[in-house]
Amino acid sequence: MDKALLSKTAAAMVAKGRGVLAADESSGTCEKRFTSVGVECTEDTRRTYRNLLFSAPGVEQYLSGVILFDETARQKAPDGSLVPQYLAKKWILPGIKVDKGVANIPFTAEEKVTEGLDGLQKRMKEYFDLGCRFAKWRAVITIGEGIPTHTCLYANAHALARYAAICQEASIVPMIEPEVLLDGDHTVERSEEVHEEALRATYAAMAAYKVSVEHLILKTSMVVSGKDNPRQAGVDEVAERTVRVLKRTVPAAQPGIVFLSGGQSDEAATAHLNAMAAMKGLPWPLTFSYSRALQNAALKTWRGQAGNVAAAQKAFHHRAYMNGLASQGKWRADLEKQAA
Ligand code: 13P
Repeated sequence: MDKALLSKTAAAMVAKGRGVLAADESSGTCEKRFTSVGVECTEDTRRTYRNLLFSAPGVEQYLSGVILFDETARQKAPDGSLVPQYLAKKWILPGIKVDKGVANIPFTAEEKVTEGLDGLQKRMKEYFDLGCRFAKWRAVITIGEGIPTHTCLYANAHALARYAAICQEASIVPMIEPEVLLDGDHTVERSEEVHEEALRATYAAMAAYKVSVEHLILKTSMVVSGKDNPRQAGVDEVAERTVRVLKRTVPAAQPGIVFLSGGQSDEAATAHLNAMAAMKGLPWPLTFSYSRALQNAALKTWRGQAGNVAAAQKAFHHRAYMNGLASQGKWRADLEKQAA
């Protein structure tokens, strides 16, 4: 465990004005996204599309890192080098998704636990050699009638902690992601309660497995209303509730917190981050680690056509720029219109 390297990596992930692109969609998720814009999802189209994102001119100003799927970490970039090396040359940290997706937890209402611990130590060494300097593991927590159960929170927290310890041992920064889904008709109050329980369970498990919080990045969902709830909390309320929960649960010693977008609109994800980052006196830097809220516009513009690549890169650059500003609390809605 190289603590100096871990500290350097974690600090770079949340460097001022920069954030992380999540481009680690599994092939199944990628297929859904591609189908929505009429593109066939093959190894080759996935490579073409992701290289379009990685090579977008100027985007490295706003991207501290990219989370890759295993397949992408072994593919060639536009200059012929492997993708992790290509990103490193642009001062973008290559990261890797290491979980293997979710399975149902027996005797629950189909609650999920994340798999992928078997053989992880060996895989982690290989990822380090490929140049990956941080890794992601996503746990999925659903809110509903009587759920999440303690069983679900406990099982996921322990898996996250076991994974995080394996990462740190291999000098790879763990990005721990306990995602509370926004699907459902729950209130924003309920979302706040569940986030608090999930984060408490997560950090208790980190302590149990001797994970160093100084070398850890949290990737969290925001406290928003369930998407089918008639009362949708506004930007300031989301920011206030999210930061309140984080202050209650996340150690101040942690180097930073990043957010997932989770199905929020592109602009809502930016506005929420901006409102939180603008708050004074927070113990950690906050930034983005979005997939959909960074990629939606680019994917819709691209549609698989070589002639649309430049326009798609521009759309991607714009979202990265807006979120780079938001991570410093410097975004304003009128900047969206000016740039459009
Ligand atoms: P979204 O921003 O689309 O929620 O994806 C982020 C992510 O990495 C989920 O694991």
